[in-house]
Amino acid sequence: TRTILIGAPVDSGQRRPGCLMGPAAYRVAGIAAAIRDLGHGVEDWGDVALPDLRAVTCANPAVDQLPETLGWTEVLADRVDDALSEGAMPVILGGDHSLALGSVSGAAAHARRSGRPLFLLWLDAHSDFHTPMTTTSGNLHGTPVAYIAGRDGFEAFPPFPAPIPADRICLYGIRSVDPAEHAALLEHDIAINDMRVLDEHGIVAPLRSFLTKVREAGGMLHVSLDVDFLDPSIAPAVGTTVPGGTTFREAHLVMELLHESGLVTSLDLVELNPFLDDRGRTAKLMVDLVGSLMGRKVFDRPTRSFT
Ligand code: ARG
Ligand code: MN
Ligand code: MN
Ligand code: MN
Repeated sequence: TRTILIGAPVDSGQRRPGCLMGPAAYRVAGIAAAIRDLGHGVEDWGDVALPDLRAVTCANPAVDQLPETLGWTEVLADRVDDALSEGAMPVILGGDHSLALGSVSGAAAHARRSGRPLFLLWLDAHSDFHTPMTTTSGNLHGTPVAYIAGRDGFEAFPPFPAPIPADRICLYGIRSVDPAEHAALLEHDIAINDMRVLDEHGIVAPLRSFLTKVREAGGMLHVSLDVDFLDPSIAPAVGTTVPGGTTFREAHLVMELLHESGLVTSLDLVELNPFLDDRGRTAKLMVDLVGSLMGRKVFDRPTRSFT
């Protein structure tokens, strides 16, 4: 696989400064070497820069840093589309989760041109299903899934290119949902694999069935990995910790299944706040997880087929 690293020092989607240091922390933690050592190509396109800001307004006065988030959305959509158009797999080094407004836009634009359906796997404690009209925190990192699913309320943003139908979206690891998100999710046919589901069925089965759907549809798969998918005891460097996250072993197993599927076409690494880290352990864990997603294994045994 040819991978392209895209640094996205996005900090405008929430109010605890530090995510802008994420791309540097991933590079210091050795992400390029980790991927290259597995036999893949790696190009680093450096960090994207915020374009000149446009004046935009939103009817909800709580919304914070809308012009900045809009600027990041536009530039990231363009870069991710460019990387996919080169036949490569973009790996977006965040940056808070609002960057997915742009990265998934770029993937959706590319998927539309190539005539393939795009699927979304959202590995996160949160559903991020607010619109700019329903958010009470005003933090736009809580909104990308709603934008991607084509919900109303994003009039300040470019229209999402080919919204992803609800049945192609899979939320995984969810354990914090606000009331307005909860109500909206009940009206959509999104697979909500909250911790209740994963505790009962295990970390593997719900993922396998989603990946089978992607495979049968000949789809592209964008994976968006939020640091808070992981339990805070192993991944402290995130502003929105929620107890009860996935363990080290569960998270690696998810990544190994994704590798074996061969379906992942683009990847976000989001919400790492290196200022909150403990001697780089969260950054290093995220890099190790990318290693598993890119094919690192202890023993190379024939893998179970998906169907
Ligand atoms: N639902 C909460 C909010 O809207 C938390 C969102 C957290 N999102 C994230 N990407 N960490 O503020
Ligand atoms: Mn371009
Ligand atoms: Mn998130
Ligand atoms: Mn989250």
